[in-house]
This record gives sequence, C-alpha cells and structure tokens, in this order.
Amino acid sequence: MSKNICFIDGLEGILKYRGIDINQLVDLPYDAISYLLILGELPGDQELAEYSACLHGAREVNREVLDVIHMCNFNVDSMEALRTIVSFMSQFDPDITDSSPEGNTRKAIRLIARIPTAVAAHYRIVNGNEPVPPDPSLSHGANFLYMIRGSKPSQLEAEVMEKDFILSAEHELNASTFSSRVTASTLSDLYSAIVSGLCALKGPLHGGARAEVMTMIEEIGSQENAEKIILEKIEKKEKIMGFGHRVYKTYDPRGAIFKQLSRELAEAKGDMCWYEIAEKIEETVIRELVEKKGKPIYPNVDFYSGVIYKYMDIPPQLATPIFAIGRVSGWIAHCFEQYEKKRIIRPRAFMLDEC
Ligand code: ACO
Repeated sequence: MSKNICFIDGLEGILKYRGIDINQLVDLPYDAISYLLILGELPGDQELAEYSACLHGAREVNREVLDVIHMCNFNVDSMEALRTIVSFMSQFDPDITDSSPEGNTRKAIRLIARIPTAVAAHYRIVNGNEPVPPDPSLSHGANFLYMIRGSKPSQLEAEVMEKDFILSAEHELNASTFSSRVTASTLSDLYSAIVSGLCALKGPLHGGARAEVMTMIEEIGSQENAEKIILEKIEKKEKIMGFGHRVYKTYDPRGAIFKQLSRELAEAKGDMCWYEIAEKIEETVIRELVEKKGKPIYPNVDFYSGVIYKYMDIPPQLATPIFAIGRVSGWIAHCFEQYEKKRIIRPRAFMLDEC
C-alpha cells in the first residue's frame, strides 16, 4: 500500500487518512473511508458499490450473540459489555483460523458491519426493548440510528452520524490503536486485536472522555453557570474533559468540524442551549489556560461530539461504543500493516519514561 495510514501535524492542526485531508474525506460515505483505510485507496464507484453491498449484507448478528447480550449484567458499563460481545462473536466467524489477507479482509468486513448491530442490540435490550434488525438499504450512520431508535433518522442526523464515524475512524498510534497493533504483532487473530483496542478505548483519558463531556455539560445546565463552574475546576486543577491532546498543540481539526456540525444541528432543532453552553466552556478554557497560562488546551475530538449526542438524544453510555464503531476501521488498518511486518512489538521499559 502506498500511503501512510495516517498523518498528523499537531502544530498546524492537519489530519490525513492515506494522504488525504480529513476535510476532503468527511463528506464521503463511511464505507468509502473504511475501504480507504483497510484496503489503502479510495474505491471507484463500482468498487464502493460492491464493498457496501458486502458490508450492509453482513450486518446481522447470530442468535447466540443476542443470547449473550441478554445474559449481560445490565448495570455494567456498555464498553464492558461490548468487549465481551465482540470476543464472543469470534467463535462464530468461519474465518477465525484463516489468517490469510483474504480471510482477514472477510473478518474485517464482519467486524465493521456487526459491531454497530451489537452496540444497538445491547442498548435496546438493556432498556427493555427488542433489538431492531439492521436495514441494508441504509448508510452506516443512518442504520445505526435506526437500530437504536426503531425509526429512521432525519437526513441531517444521518449525515452527522456518518461524519462522526468518519472523524473517529483513525488517529495514528493512539492508546487503543497501539493496543490493537501490539496484539496483532504477536500474530494473534483480528478479533483479539480489536478486543484489545476496545479495552484501551474504554478509559476516561481516551474514548471515555466523550461521556464525561456530556455529563459535564448536563451538570453545568446553563450558559450562565458555565464560566463559574469551569473556573472552579481550573482552580482545583481538575482536567476539563474534551480538552487537550498529546499530539495537537493547536485546535484539533476534528474538533473544528464537530463544532460546525453541532451548530448546524442546534440551528435545525431550534435549540441553541447545549451549543451555547459548550461555546462558553470553550471560551473560558481558552481564555484561562491558553491565553493566560500558555497551555495548548483546545477542544479535542470528544468535546463537540458530546454536544452532538445531546442534540441527537444519544445517552452518555453510547458515546464510547459509538467511538468504537468508527474507530474499528482504523484499528483494522493498523493490524493489517502489522501482520505484513510479521514482527513482534516489544518496547523496553525505559521507553515508558517518555510516555
Ligand atoms: N484540562 C485542564 N488542564 C489540562 C487538560 C485539560 N483537559 N489537559 C491537559 N491539561 C494540563 C495538565 O494539567 C498539565 O498541566 P501542568 O503542566 O501544569 O501540570 C498540562 O496541561 C499537560 O497535561 P498532560 O496531562 O501532561 O498532557 P498529556 O499529553 O499527558 O494528556 C490528555 C493528554 C490525556 C488528552 C489530557 O489533555 C487530558 O486528560 N484531557 C482530558 C481528557 C480527554 O479529553 N481525553 C480525550 C483525548 S482525545 C482521545 O483520546 C480521543
């Protein structure tokens, strides 16, 4: 494959998948992005149609998977359930022992197609509802919203969900991708590698931050409270969720797109409340931490995505699983690259001093 999976310029705020700027990719279907990531180039019309048909046709999960969801403890975190479910799904994949590139691509398609179904089924069952079977005629984003709600989303909501999956799809060697890659480097199977990614994504310093952003915005409750509460958090040296990044020392380009999308949703719904609270939080953090203290603490990918979920009535417990739905294509792309290397990743302990 020609281009690096991902390129990030953390000083200039540039993000590219396979050499293409994220701003050019965000209007494409998620299927085209997952094809680009795992197969290395953007598909042509015919290739995209065939790939989408495969993905959409593979969305259903088998009865045993639904049975396991019913047996989950409904009080546990949804990521805890998801890592169990994905691990269990491997036992029914006919290609589990086929680690050829073809076998791995078939497994990849099933994982990308079925993780949304598992997340939605778990969400509905936990809430006392029957799972909604996937609709192969819908896009990745629209189908997910349909499976959690039982009704088709508006065009704008479907587009926002699609873009959310795209913006979450890949981000170089973040903690979860690194975990997936380390597992793949042992030549363990793709499901094991993806479960490793899920386990790392779950933590509040990584994918778990989105849910915490939603809780924070809810607790703040009004634009008037925002400045006071954020100033108190800063005074107590608490981290403001959805801000800061190890690589970006400027505005996260995904954060900027999410901000624009959350504004569009707010305007379409005729309710600027959550957007205005978020803007006030951002304004306060930038004034206090960036301008006064010189720390590069800007909104990251998790901040305005949390606002979007408020507008789409998506509860906090779905925030990290949704991140996983998008990110699975990136994890797989890295695993494929690692499988080609056939070399175990084995850092030395002293390297951790730099982390
Ligand atoms: N709010 C307030 N202060 C912050 C924040 C924040 N969100 N993030 C960093 N800082 C401050 C730290 O207190 C520290 O200050 P100090 O030098 O005076 O001690 C300085 O900035 C550097 O912070 P580190 O934690 O060392 O930065 P690091 O690169 O290790 O962490 C991280 C990056 C984990 C993202 C951090 O910014 C953070 O915890 N953010 C909040 C959680 C979050 O939003 N996570 C999602 C990240 S994106 C993703 O994983 C998808």
